[in-house]
Amino acid sequence: MNIRLARVEDLQGMQACNLQNLPENYTLKYYLYHALSWPQLSYVAEDEKGRIVGYILAKMEEDIGPDDEPHGHVTSISVLRSYRRLGLAKRLMVQSQEAMATVYRAAYVSLHVRKSNRAALALYKDTLGFTVKDIEKRYYADGEDAYAMRLSLKHLAR
Ligand SMILES: CC(C)(COP(=O)(O)OP(=O)(O)OC[C@H]1O[C@@H](n2cnc3c(N)ncnc32)[C@H](O)[C@@H]1OP(=O)(O)O)[C@@H](O)C(=O)NCCC(=O)NCCS
Repeated sequence: MNIRLARVEDLQGMQACNLQNLPENYTLKYYLYHALSWPQLSYVAEDEKGRIVGYILAKMEEDIGPDDEPHGHVTSISVLRSYRRLGLAKRLMVQSQEAMATVYRAAYVSLHVRKSNRAALALYKDTLGFTVKDIEKRYYADGEDAYAMRLSLKHLAR
């Protein structure tokens, strides 16, 4: 399985993967906004035939307060069911985190995750070392709470 930077021609495949995996869906315009604004931060995993089996859609946070540091944000990540537990999500996260730190000097990366999403929580907490910064009540459209999580990237700064 190959991991590489996402290109504009991948966006529809990423959107299709997202639709299969998550209830949080985005317009193609929003994917394009990520790819054009932060072309180094979004990656895809493709199979031997070049089909997209996983992706990470990421950005730099635009709306930061005066006391906050520049930081990256993971908008969405998913891997097709039959390609899970192969380490793809971990690799996608690590690649994006490295680019956030080296290209944009991001001090940390943030994301939201459903309180009930056991697989994603294990990936973020146990494998990658994220910590819970806050609980955002009724963050999701169906009323579920989100954990707002963070991981420092300072060790990656060059
Ligand atoms: C969450 C998700 C992206 C993980 O993708 P993945 O490629 O299977 O993850 P990885 O293989 O990189 O897993 C890395 C580690 O995360 C943890 N993990 C991943 N899936 C897990 C599961 N189902 N149960 C428990 N731990 C899990 C494990 O610690 C795993 O390491 P290990 O396989 O050595 O035990 C995938 O399950 C998915 O697409 N889910 C639906 C979409 C989603 O929930 N996205 C996140 C929204 S915030």
